[in-house]
This record gives sequence, structure tokens and C-alpha cells, in this order.
Amino acid sequence: MSGAAEVLVQRGGGRPRVGVVLGSGLGAVAEAVSGAVVVGYDELPGFPLPTVEGHAGRAVLGRVAGVPVAVLQGRAHLYEGGELEALRAPVRALRAAGAEVIVLTNAAGSLRADVGPGRLMAITDHINLTGVNLLAGPNDPALGPRFPTLRDAYDPQLLVELHAVAGALGVPLADGVYLAVGGPSFETPAEIRAFRVLGADAVGMSTVHETIIARHCGLRVVAISAITNLAEGMSDEPLSHEQTLRDARRGAVDLSRLLLAFIERIGNGPGGARS
Ligand code: HPA
Repeated sequence: MSGAAEVLVQRGGGRPRVGVVLGSGLGAVAEAVSGAVVVGYDELPGFPLPTVEGHAGRAVLGRVAGVPVAVLQGRAHLYEGGELEALRAPVRALRAAGAEVIVLTNAAGSLRADVGPGRLMAITDHINLTGVNLLAGPNDPALGPRFPTLRDAYDPQLLVELHAVAGALGVPLADGVYLAVGGPSFETPAEIRAFRVLGADAVGMSTVHETIIARHCGLRVVAISAITNLAEGMSDEPLSHEQTLRDARRGAVDLSRLLLAFIERIGNGPGGARS
């Protein structure tokens, strides 16, 4: 087990079953973890020390509805220009610690006028336009295959469960394709028009790398975008990180309710993390 995985297991008092990665401004979810033990990323070898406001840089270990979880508040992004290992390490540590499912969340811009700020979108597939694949380089076959498939990268069965939970809670949940750019500049209006032609429903600067690393090592992936804005060129207000953080908080309430109920369902119900 890696150093970081060992710390997660030891400090968390056991193996997490579900890992959660929280995106910009979505930290409220961590407050719902019971018996929480907070571990700073500085205690987790290989984890990133975040440089962006809205990303705390700590792991919250505990239980949600009795299910052992590790909630990671803060992630590395390509645009921060740090070690690429900082994007791989947290996902692999969750897997090595025992997680079976990873729930990835992010703040994203919507290309769909009918899914505006404050809404949630379940990611059904992605388009990686960051120009980087974090599996490039030597492959460790003990971790996963050289050429992993990304068909059904976003677990179809867990997507069904997620929609069932959202329906029961009355939380509107769209489905969509997430397109990732490297950032840190927001897109041009021309890029957004092009991305729409490509089939994108949401655009952001994260998540796809974690999905690829997670699928490679056998984690089942669920990913949810909290829509913070209509993509550039679709509304009058120019985009800014302040606006992203403000509007992420609007979606964070729904996201928090949805995640807690989802973890309870997959932790305890049929077809969940135990299956
Ligand atoms: N583009 C890229 N990343 C984002 C956006 C956006 O419009 N909103 C939140 N993160």
C-alpha cells in the first residue's frame, strides 16, 4: 500500500468504501461526514497542496449513513503547472486504501441554455481536450492495463442509481457530456460554439484525468457537475472565478443532499458498492 493509502486507512480507522473529490466551492459536502477525522494534504505523500481559492487541501475521513468514506477537499489542476503525479496520487491512494467507487464533482459551465447556474449535471461521457493523458509514460501492470477502455467510463449502473436518488429527493439532475480544457483562461465564444458542435453539454478544467486514472485502476466512477454559469458567449456577464465560487454554492446544497443519499444507497442497497 502506498504511503498515502496507509495514512488514509490508519487515520480513518479503516478502509474507505467510497471516495469523493470535491470541486471548486463545493466543500459543504464534507460537513456532513460523521465522526470526521481531518487530514491535511501535507500529511498525505504525493497529494497536491492546492493553490486555488475554494480548494481546501484536506481529506475528511469518516462515515456517511454508516458507509466509510474519504472526502477529498481540493484537487490539483493542469493549469497550476505542478507535478502531474499530484493528479494521479489521490485517486490511486483511494483505490489502494480500499475504495470501490469514486465520486468526482466539479464546477462547470453549461453549453445548454436549459441547464443554467445552480443546476446539477451527471456526466455520462467526456471529451478530453486538455492535450494531456496522465497514463502516458511507463505503465505499472500491477495498477492496471496499458490500454484501458473508456467505454462506459461513467458507470451506467451507478448513473441509474444516481437518477433514482435524485428523483426521490426532487433534485433536478440533467445528463451530459463534459468537455475538459486545460485552462486557466475561460473559453472564447468561438470555442464554445465549436464545443457544442463536438457534442459537449458542459465545460470545465478538471475531472477527466481523475476518471482516466480511476478507470485504469478499477474504480467505478460517478461524476457530477455543479453548473455555475452558462458558457462564455451565452450570457451578458463575463466569466470570473469569483462568479464560479458564488454560483457553486448555489448548487452545493442540492449536491450535498444528492451525494449523501447516493452514498447511503450504494453503500447499503443492492447493486451498490458491495456488489
Ligand atoms: N469554463 C471552464 N471551466 C469552468 C467554467 C467555464 O465556463 N465554469 C466553471 N468552471
